[in-house]
Amino acid sequence: MAELPEHVAVNREYWDGMAHEWVEAGERSWNQAEPAWGSWGIPESELHLLPDDMTGLQAIELGCGTAYVSAWMARRGAVVTGIDNSLEQLRTAERLAQQHGVALELIHGNAEAVPKPDESFDFAISEYGAAIWADPYRWIPEAHRLLRPGGTLVFLGTHHLVSVCSPLDGSFPIPRTLERPYFGDHRLDWRDAADDPGGIEFSLPFSAWIRLFRSTGFEVVDFAEIQAPADAVGTKSGITADWARDYPSEHVWTVRKAG
Ligand SMILES: C[S@@+](CC[C@H](N)C(=O)[O-])C[C@H]1O[C@@H](n2cnc3c(N)ncnc32)[C@H](O)[C@@H]1O
Repeated sequence: MAELPEHVAVNREYWDGMAHEWVEAGERSWNQAEPAWGSWGIPESELHLLPDDMTGLQAIELGCGTAYVSAWMARRGAVVTGIDNSLEQLRTAERLAQQHGVALELIHGNAEAVPKPDESFDFAISEYGAAIWADPYRWIPEAHRLLRPGGTLVFLGTHHLVSVCSPLDGSFPIPRTLERPYFGDHRLDWRDAADDPGGIEFSLPFSAWIRLFRSTGFEVVDFAEIQAPADAVGTKSGITADWARDYPSEHVWTVRKAG
């Protein structure tokens, strides 16, 4: 087997070690009838990330974790594959799929190199999976390869403003000040972060996303910046609800492979 890129190996170890902390949240999300997205639980009726009827569509979730997004798609009629870099996360996904009687194909692997033929899927999605943990210059072209012409990729992840406002020592909470350059390095290594040390993530300036989509062969269908709801409270990954009401903490891209 080819050696994993450094960030994929680091993130595998991180997520295998963390998986037990995500079981409860996974169980809650599997039990939800209506999808709710991201840190602030924005309802699907507001964001519209999934087609209402996915009957017969072949869909893939890139970095599926406990695979509740996969379950939401399967319940809408899609034939779903989930790929994840962490075997421990997939163990939870497998158990919940069995418990809920939802058929999913689950693959242990890297979303930057998916063991599936070209043009296998109509729809690809990532909520905080490949969207932040995989190298965009690898996983975006890979998603493009996997999609059929006209196929859609939707992904939700951390807004670049959060990265720019993140203190260099990784301390929380995220302040309302610019702490890092907007341009430049898109790799964020949180292994030595002062608060909540993590793995290696990626974040791009918006012009770089657009250039990447265009050079890969994707056209932008939609771009959303998520605002925390008026009644949101607490702190999510160092971001207070107040911060996320004033500034976007998450973004959603919807792009289509040229037909
Ligand atoms: C936060 S979970 C995302 C799943 C779910 N939507 C959620 O928010 O809980 C992040 C997942 O991305 C996976 N991941 C990280 N890097 C990956 C990669 N290169 N390929 C596939 N999965 C990856 C991790 O193993 C982890 O299970």
